[in-house]
This record gives sequence, structure tokens and C-alpha cells, in this order.
Amino acid sequence: MDAWLQPLIDWLNGLPLQATIRETSWALPLVQTVHILAVAIVLTASLIIALRGIGLVGRDWSLARWQARFGTSTVLALWTLLGTGLLMILAEPERELLNWLFRAKMLLVIVTLLLARGLARALRATRTDRPARPGVRLLAVVVFAAWIAVAMAGRWIAYVG
Ligand code: HEM
Repeated sequence: MDAWLQPLIDWLNGLPLQATIRETSWALPLVQTVHILAVAIVLTASLIIALRGIGLVGRDWSLARWQARFGTSTVLALWTLLGTGLLMILAEPERELLNWLFRAKMLLVIVTLLLARGLARALRATRTDRPARPGVRLLAVVVFAAWIAVAMAGRWIAYVG
């Protein structure tokens, strides 16, 4: 796997944009800050939807309505995470691409995106004035737990090789 990735790493290391990011002292901290702010948006939306799923908050709105309320901001935040994540990979390709936890995180991101899409679809099919099925409410909690696991993996990358 590592040998297969080496040509990609070499190519990224030769890009002028990488040199610019590395030579600009504020560039990487700024990208990381935007990544964290986007994490906050995804986690906040997912937390509220999970808590609504178990009936702890926002019971004046149905789960489907909460999902519709946060759908667009979550999608925008996820694209921001992808963009800033790619910039971080460009800045330090060896640190990310050769790290097993980074790879695990990417796998987890894909699985979580599929679960979140399943949740969004199920709720789009539910009338906004109707209560969601128990399985859908459970899925809302699972999606939140999965985003937390992604965030933990993201933070932990710095401590494992
Ligand atoms: C969509 C694709 C994503 C990519 C390509 C990506 C990529 C990255 C990279 C390269 C890092 C730097 C790790 C390091 O070197 O220490 C990072 C950090 C991090 N990521 Fe992501 N990420 C993505 C999505 C997410 C999502 C969905 C979450 C959470 C819901 C998340 C949470 C975090 C956290 C908490 C950190 C640690 C930031 C820090 O300590 O400064 N990431 N990510």
C-alpha cells in the first residue's frame, strides 16, 4: 500500500501550491480552523437530530422537519471538510497518507456518509407532521455516534503513526 502511494506523495510534494502552503505560516492553521468549524456544524446538527430522535429536545418539531432544517448546512459543511481535508493532505502527504488511522478515518467517513444518506432518505419519505419510525430514530443516534468516532480519529492521527 505504502509503495503504491509513493508516486502520489512525490507528485504532491512537487506541486507549487504545496510549497506556498508550507511557506505561508498562517495557511495551515487557517485551513485547520475552518476544518474544525465545519466539524462543529456537522456535529451540532447531528447531535440535535439524535437528541430529537430519542425525544429529549425540540419535540415541537418532527424529526423529519429537523432533518430538513439542517440538511443544507450539513452538506455545505461536509464539502468544506473535504476541501480543507484535501488541503491538509496536500500540505503533509506523508503524515496523512502513510498513517493507518488516517486511512481508517476515511473509511469511517464513507460508512458514516452512507448511514447519514440513509437517514436523510428515510426522513424525506416521512411526512413532516408524522413521528419517525423507531428504527429511523435509532439510526439518528448511530449517525451521531459515527461522526463522533470520525472526529476522534481525526484528532488522534497526530498521535499514532
Ligand atoms: C471529508 C473528508 C475529510 C478529510 C479528507 C479529512 C482530512 C483530515 C486531515 C488530513 C486531518 C489532519 C490530521 C492530522 O494530521 O493531525 C484532519 C483532522 C481532523 N478532522 Fe478531518 N477530514 C475529513 C472529514 C472529517 C469529518 C467528517 C470530521 C468530523 C465529523 C473530521 C474531523 C477532524 C478532526 C476533529 C480533526 C483534528 C483537527 C485538529 O486537531 O486540528 N474530519 N482531517
